[in-house]
Amino acid sequence: MDPTGNTQAGREQWGSRLGFILACLGSAVGLGNIWRFSTTAGENGGGAFLIVYLAVIFLIGIPIVMAEFTIGRKTQSDAIGSFQKLAPGTPWVLSGIMGVASAFIILSFYGVIAGWVMKYVLGYLTGALTSVPDNDYTGYFVNFITSPVEPLIWQFIFMVLTVATVYVGVKQGIEKMNKILMPSLGILLIILAIYSLTLGGAKEGLNFLFNPDWSALTDPGVYIAALGQAFFSLSLGMGALITYGSYLKKDDKLPGAALSLGILDTAFALIAGIMIFPAVFAFGLDPAGGAGLLFMTLPNVFGQMTGGTIVGLAFFLLVLAAALTSAVSLLEVAVAYFMRKFEWTRQKTALLIGGIIFLLGVPSSLSQGAMSIALPIGFLGDNFLDQMDYITANIFLPLGGLIIALFMGWGWKKTDALRDSDFGESTIGIVWIWLLRIVAPIAVLLIFLNGLGWISL
Ligand code: TRP
Repeated sequence: MDPTGNTQAGREQWGSRLGFILACLGSAVGLGNIWRFSTTAGENGGGAFLIVYLAVIFLIGIPIVMAEFTIGRKTQSDAIGSFQKLAPGTPWVLSGIMGVASAFIILSFYGVIAGWVMKYVLGYLTGALTSVPDNDYTGYFVNFITSPVEPLIWQFIFMVLTVATVYVGVKQGIEKMNKILMPSLGILLIILAIYSLTLGGAKEGLNFLFNPDWSALTDPGVYIAALGQAFFSLSLGMGALITYGSYLKKDDKLPGAALSLGILDTAFALIAGIMIFPAVFAFGLDPAGGAGLLFMTLPNVFGQMTGGTIVGLAFFLLVLAAALTSAVSLLEVAVAYFMRKFEWTRQKTALLIGGIIFLLGVPSSLSQGAMSIALPIGFLGDNFLDQMDYITANIFLPLGGLIIALFMGWGWKKTDALRDSDFGESTIGIVWIWLLRIVAPIAVLLIFLNGLGWISL
């Protein structure tokens, strides 16, 4: 055993490089691409938001994805162990600690929303969502999320599925699930997007998403939102990709994987937008509908279209699959750490940590109306769930990512970083180092500072 307590012998690994890429894609593509992207783009001016978002993905996001992969594969350890191994006794480990904390917090509210998705899958299966009286989908949704017990049951069932997958292991559980679900998801999403484009709202929908309203760029909130959304969507800044990278064999190539992940994750979000916004406009609904877009606006759309039950069922199954593969990666970050730290079995760790995270999610669920639970800090949002989302996505993840960028850019010898990332002495490798050293940290800091001014307004 080495000083970090990491038994290398018997540590799990992916079965193949494709399995690794699909698992990372499964982690990245989730509620973030469908529920969060459409909400955030809708509330921040559509096209203008998209431009900032794309810039963040390519200049900040993908370089940090590469850094996380490189760290994980190099150390073959988890989010915290990686830093302890590479730089023992230094404060860099802070990013890992914040990462594991974020895994707990994000999964706690993620499970709540994924539970709602399960309820909707059942609603389409039983026909309850096909025949909502007076098309009152708002009433249906609000009734459901404000009731104290039922959402908790769905959250619990979702967490059981998540725990079960992590319980089985990296290759047989996580990799296998992603190999089946990710390709199915891609196909289904494309079919739904094409269908949505035939609905008559295509022009306004695409216009909203792709035609920037430049005036929106004067709002500092747009930059924070794009930064947070990019980190959240790429599963970045908390060691999830360090953890997944740590199950790679030393000879699997990294840069292609990082680029594919960035491009495919963005493509998923855009296709989801292409499916959601035309439908919204075709039925004369509001694109800035907020978190309700998925649960009130879309079911309304499905309810008015022919074959809506099938489309609704397909759509919510797709969202559920995407959410599950993401939740699994969140749980794995925490499980990988505690397994190593306390030398517990994977099974025991998954059950214990999964149980704790379920309990942590209870206040988020209740804060939707059953009880009023909120931290007394206005700009974080007005209920506990939104506040947990804001703190992690807009603060913890970018901060964690900032530390990772500085660690790789300045904490490693340049030649080591280039070698360990597989870039070698290439131009693109040098560009990558400087993006990590200067561009990403300054951009994150500027967006933060800018955001502080916006907050104090
Ligand atoms: N990326 C996922 C989504 O878009 C959420 C997620 C999974 C995540 N793992 C993560 C976010 C790790 C941040 C960090 O839904």
